[in-house]
Order: sequence, then structure tokens, then C-alpha cells
Amino acid sequence: MYHLIKISDLTKDKIASLIELANDIETDRRAYSKVCEDASLASLFFEPSTRTRLSFEAAMLELGGKVLGFADASTSSAAKGESVADTIRVVECYSDIIVMRHPKEGAPYAASRKASVPIINAGDGGHNHPTQTLTDLHTIMKAKGRLGGITIGLCGDLMFGRTVHSLVEALSMYDDVHFVLISPEELRAPDYLKEGALNKPNVTFVETESLDESISGLDVLYMTRVQRERFFNEADYVRLKDRYCLTLATLKRASRDLAVLHPLPRVNEIAPEVDDTEGAWYFKQAMYGKHIRKALIMDMLEARR
Ligand code: NCD
Repeated sequence: MYHLIKISDLTKDKIASLIELANDIETDRRAYSKVCEDASLASLFFEPSTRTRLSFEAAMLELGGKVLGFADASTSSAAKGESVADTIRVVECYSDIIVMRHPKEGAPYAASRKASVPIINAGDGGHNHPTQTLTDLHTIMKAKGRLGGITIGLCGDLMFGRTVHSLVEALSMYDDVHFVLISPEELRAPDYLKEGALNKPNVTFVETESLDESISGLDVLYMTRVQRERFFNEADYVRLKDRYCLTLATLKRASRDLAVLHPLPRVNEIAPEVDDTEGAWYFKQAMYGKHIRKALIMDMLEARR
């Protein structure tokens, strides 16, 4: 049994085998429709979610399993002051695997320390989001056919964006990855990434404030939303929120086969006019999220086809 709290809990080989399984699931959905027949997944969402929660629930249902949980912590006993540790001790009596999103960094890790069933971190505060990263890696493989040897631009809120943190950690496991970190000065990537994942010999990075000036050299552009809920001060959010918007005019400067990804939800970072271009991968990305989560649930529950 294992937990997935941060992306480095998985080896490169494990990531490759999950992507392979996700591809097989995608081509032959019916073959997997009963593999988790006897199992149930609890989804505990202490923070808002659309894609992550629904894709996990859809994934488990399509594998023949059952789903229980809550989408609003105010309807759970957390509202009465119950600790995460106590909640997990109880929920593990009712389920075989637990997916948890929480506004506090480290909450899923704390949950996993005592848990007797696998715990999946579905996003902890401004920290990590490893299953979004699996989705992103799966999408980059679909778009580019490789994870190493790429130049990827990460644009927007690199400070609070947990999807960015996990994706940087993941891609730093591959060879010859060049990161272009595009953000306002105030929302630069945290130092722990620059001293850790970004400091490895197999990767390089630059920081810039300009999307227009850096887009031409990118293979992949990963846009992100400014994370309003992590700001201490609304005025700062308002000042920074519309700094970047990818438009057709900006795309004219890009290579023809630039793949544009976004974990969604989007606010204003990508103009809707971009949605119909060939390089727009973000809605497909949301669909791949379901396939890779099916593969992950199967692997964690040791379910076989
Ligand atoms: C992301 C998240 O929750 O961190 N959303 C998602 O899971 N697809 C990104 C975001 O909220 O901006």
C-alpha cells in the first residue's frame, strides 16, 4: 500500500506505467468497468473543486466501484471542530481509498501518517497537487510524445499555484528540461523550488515577467490563474489578476506546435478565441485527468484487468 502526497512519491517508472495504463483504459473502457467492483472511494473536499472531485468520482464509478464523501466541509464534522486525523480514522472504516483536498498545507500528509488505507492528496493549500501533475504529464505525452527534452513556460501565479509546484518537481526528474518561469515579480516561484527541483544538473530555468517576449521558444505553455484565495490582501489580487492573457495575437509569436495547457478553472488567462486553435489542450487535459485517475486508483488498490 502507498499514499500519494507529493509527486516524488512516484518513480519515473511508476509514472510511465500509469500513463500506459491510462492509454489502455481510454481505448478499452469496458474492459475496466468492473475492476474495482468491491471497493469504495471516499472523496473529502474541504475546499472547492469541479474537475478534481468529479473526475475522481467518475473514475471510480467507471471502474465499477462506489463513491461516498462530501464536497463542502461545512456539512461535515470539520465544522464542529473535528481534527483531520479523527475524520480519517472514521472514514477509513467506510472506504478503501481516500481522496482529500484541504486548504492547509500538509493536511493530507498528516492524514496519511496514521491511515490504514491509501490517501491521495487532491490539493493542499498552495503546496502540492500531484494528481493534477499526473494529468499534465499525460497531456504533455499526448501532445509532444516525450517528457524530457522540452522547453516549458509556466505563466501566472507561480508562488501560490500548487499545480505549478508539483509539475516543476515532476519534470525535474527528466533530462534536458528548460523552464521559463513567467510571472509578476510578486508571484515568482518559491525559493525552495529554485534551491531544490530547479537546481538539479539536468534542468535549467530562467525567470521573466514577459509572456510576449518568451513565448517563441516554448514547446509547452502552462497557463495558471492567480490564486485569489491565497492572498492576504484583495487589493494585491486585483492589481495582479489580469497581468497575463493569452490571445491569438500573442500566439502569433509562438511556434506552430506550441501546446497550451491549463489546469482550469480559467478566469481571464486565456481568451476564449484560443479555444478552437490546434494547440489548445486544456479541455482534453481535463478529460485525460479522468483516465489517469482511473489508472492511479487501480494501481493503489492493486486492481487488475
Ligand atoms: C487547480 C487547483 O485546485 O489547484 N485546479 C484543479 O485542480 N484543476 C488550479 C486552480 O485552482 O487554479
